[in-house]
Amino acid sequence: MRANEVQKTSLILNRISNDFNNYKAFDNMKKSNDFTKKELWLYFLITFNEMYGKEFNQDDQAIQNLAVVFFYFLGDNRFDNCENLRADISYPSFKKGLLIIGGYGLGKTDYLRVFEKMFMSYPHLRFKFYTSKGLVRQYEKCQTSMDKESFFKDTERSLMFIDDISSERLASNYGHVDIVEEVILNRYDKKLRTFASCNYTTSDNCVEQTLHDLGLRYGGRMYDRFHEMFNIIEFKGTSYRR
Ligand SMILES: Nc1ncnc2c1ncn2[C@@H]1O[C@H](COP(=O)(O)OP(=O)(O)O)[C@@H](O)[C@H]1O
Ligand SMILES: [Mg+2]
Repeated sequence: MRANEVQKTSLILNRISNDFNNYKAFDNMKKSNDFTKKELWLYFLITFNEMYGKEFNQDDQAIQNLAVVFFYFLGDNRFDNCENLRADISYPSFKKGLLIIGGYGLGKTDYLRVFEKMFMSYPHLRFKFYTSKGLVRQYEKCQTSMDKESFFKDTERSLMFIDDISSERLASNYGHVDIVEEVILNRYDKKLRTFASCNYTTSDNCVEQTLHDLGLRYGGRMYDRFHEMFNIIEFKGTSYRR
């Protein structure tokens, strides 16, 4: 996602933000002169509010967790310098997808649902939201080889998000299949960009260990490919679920 796509995003968001001139965050936007990012921010706040019927809490933790995702979607090079980007683990690139790793209750699921809705009408950013458990269930419903074929066809869309990877059980359909692994490997082979989220696998919130555990779950082949396929993003802080 580079110059022309960023420009498209900017035009779209300009239009949207015109409708929300009275929204309180808009004053700050004008001051910062950074319309592209701020317009996306405003659109995010409004969509979050619409979807969940509550105000988005604009605290430091939420802003820091989201900044890296915003810069990514905007194709803004400030992405490379975000604290929550683990550039020490995986070399940053807009050609790669996102693997968001973090603790429970930090907004991984809800934020990505907001982005899914926001980008629905914009083909260069549009992605579909899946859960890893949903993929297992969907695969288990396949009765014929044609059903399986259309399952995989569906997961070959140009952008997709898979929530909570590694939380799913094996799929059982005439034998056991690690279906999320299959889907991700298939997308790797087809050079498709994937977004995914995963909770820390350890109580000391260690990204390296979580990746290691993902490797144990899905196999060494996947462990290497995770680094090739994903920018590793860390969501930090304390849960909003109280
Ligand atoms: N900045 C925020 N302001 C208000 N509510 C938030 C914020 N971030 C997350 N939440 C809420 O916290 C809860 C947990 O979020 P969720 O997306 O399920 O977390 P995760 O997927 O990381 O476990 C949800 O109800 C979500 O709407
Ligand atoms: Mg979640």
